[in-house]
Formats: sequence, C-alpha cells, structure tokens
Amino acid sequence: MTRAIQPLQPIKSTFSHRMLRIAASCWLIVASVGQWLFGFYILLFYGKTTLTSDFERWNRVLPHGYVAGDWVGNLIVGIHVLLASILVIGGPIQLLPWVRHQAPVFHRRLGQLYLVTAIVVSIAGLVMVWTRGSVGDTIQHYSISLQAVYIMGFAYQSIRYAKARQFNQHRIWALRLFMVTNGGWFFRVGLMSWLVINGGPVGFDPQSFTGPFLTFLAVFTYAIPLSVVLLELYLYACQTLNKTLNYLVSATIFLVTLLTTIGIFGATLGLWFPQIK
Ligand code: HEM
Repeated sequence: MTRAIQPLQPIKSTFSHRMLRIAASCWLIVASVGQWLFGFYILLFYGKTTLTSDFERWNRVLPHGYVAGDWVGNLIVGIHVLLASILVIGGPIQLLPWVRHQAPVFHRRLGQLYLVTAIVVSIAGLVMVWTRGSVGDTIQHYSISLQAVYIMGFAYQSIRYAKARQFNQHRIWALRLFMVTNGGWFFRVGLMSWLVINGGPVGFDPQSFTGPFLTFLAVFTYAIPLSVVLLELYLYACQTLNKTLNYLVSATIFLVTLLTTIGIFGATLGLWFPQIK
C-alpha cells in the first residue's frame, strides 16, 4: 500500500519501523483484552442488577449511583453505565483489521453506533458529575469534563471526514476518539497499576479519593491525555526515518504495555471480579 492511502502504517519496512508496529500491536492486544474484561464486568454487574431491579447494589461501586426517589438521575446513571459497554466492547472490535476489510458494512454500522453512544455517554457523564457529584476533587471533575468535550469534538471530526470520504483523516480522528473515550478505563488501569507496584495507596487518600497522585492521573488521563500524545508520537514516528525516535517511541509503547498489563491484572482481580463472582 502506498503512503497516500495508508498513513497509519510505517512508511518503510526498516527494523525500527517493524519495532513500532510490533509495539503498537502488543499494546492493542493487551488493551483489547482489558477493555473486554471491563465490558463483561459492566454487563454482568450493571446488566444483572438492572434486570433484577437490585439498584442499591450500584452504590457498592458508585457512591452516587442510586438515589431512592430520583428516577431521572438514576436513569441517567443507568444509561451511562450500560451504554458504556458498547464503547468498551465495540471500540477494540472496530480496530480489528479483519473486521475493517472483511465486514465493511458491519464496521460502518458499529462505527455509527459507537459515535452516537460516545456522545450520549459523555453528556450523561457530565450531568452525573455536575448534578449528582462524583468521587474526588474539583480538579478531577474539571478534568473528566474536559474529556467529555474532547470526545464530542473528536466524534464530530471523525463523522465529518467520513462524510467527506477523506478516510485517512477519518481513521486518525477515530483513533484519537478511541483514546479519549477510553479515558475512564485508562484511569482505572493506571490507578490499579500504581497500587500493585506500590503495594497499596501511595500519594493519595483512599477515603477522600484525593491527593497528588490522583490529581496527576486525572490531569494526564483526561485533561491533557497522554494516550493521545503517545498516539501522535506513534503516527509521527511511522512517517519518519529517524531511527532513534522510532526506537524511543517503541520502547515507550512497550513500557506502557507492561504497565497496562499490570493495571488490567489489578483491576480485574481488585475491582471487577469481586463484584460479579
Ligand atoms: C465515554 C466514555 C466513558 C465510559 C466508557 C464510561 C464508563 C463508566 C463506567 C463503566 C462507570 C461505572 C464504573 C464502575 O462500575 O466502576 C462510570 C462511572 C462514572 N462516569 Fe463514566 N464513562 C465514560 C465517560 C465519562 C465522562 C466523559 C464523564 C464525565 C464528564 C463520566 C462520569 C462518570 C461518573 C461521574 C461516574 C460515577 C463515578 C462516581 O460515582 O464517582 N464518564 N463510567
């Protein structure tokens, strides 16, 4: 394929470009498994409690999840968490090359569903933060709100370029959207990775859910998403012949893959599995 039609692949098949591809594939495989585990938790925990009308159980994981009598607020929480499963299960499916090439109609339909769902989940999330309240402090609340703005802006750009049939730009914006939409997942995985590595809470107070580490994590996950910064570095490295940069970006992605693996392990055993077993 030529560079003109395939900007997300390295321009040459040098060793340093192959390393970039391997690093990105490793991260994507690990992240896909981690997101599907999060998706199964959402379906099994929120799906089951919703079907059995056992809404009080939401408060075991969400301090502001269910408020007796406030059916509008509860409905918004329900919409937020249940539709979130479409994003965390559907996102990695959209990135599977096989789906893109062999099932283009499915890819298009799932893409449309993903875009609409991302916007609805973000609006519901904004309502939750600013009406019901959320764990953490004001910096965390502003940071996650900024994430909602990015999600809606990137979704708009992605739709715009798809409609204009500029598919290179569409794919780049869709990848940026994938990164910001997964902010909540990155936050949980980052937090659990930190807890596993330190053997417990360091740099924050688990009771108030505030402290320097959580401020850092919220700002660099939501407000200035490092996931998007790394994606941009990867896209740039794919187009350059600067071997040093390519190795540096590959090494960073490998390191992130290791931290992601640790975080998924911690989140699955510490957060998700205990709620569904
Ligand atoms: C679009 C991607 C998003 C996904 C996939 C997502 C997913 C989820 C899930 C699954 C939960 C339940 C967490 C658990 O059971 O451990 C949750 C909670 C929550 N989300 Fe989101 N979310 C997203 C975006 C947002 C945004 C943009 C905001 C705010 C602007 C937001 C605000 C919240 C709040 C306030 C809670 C409840 C946490 C608490 O009670 O403190 N979410 N989200």
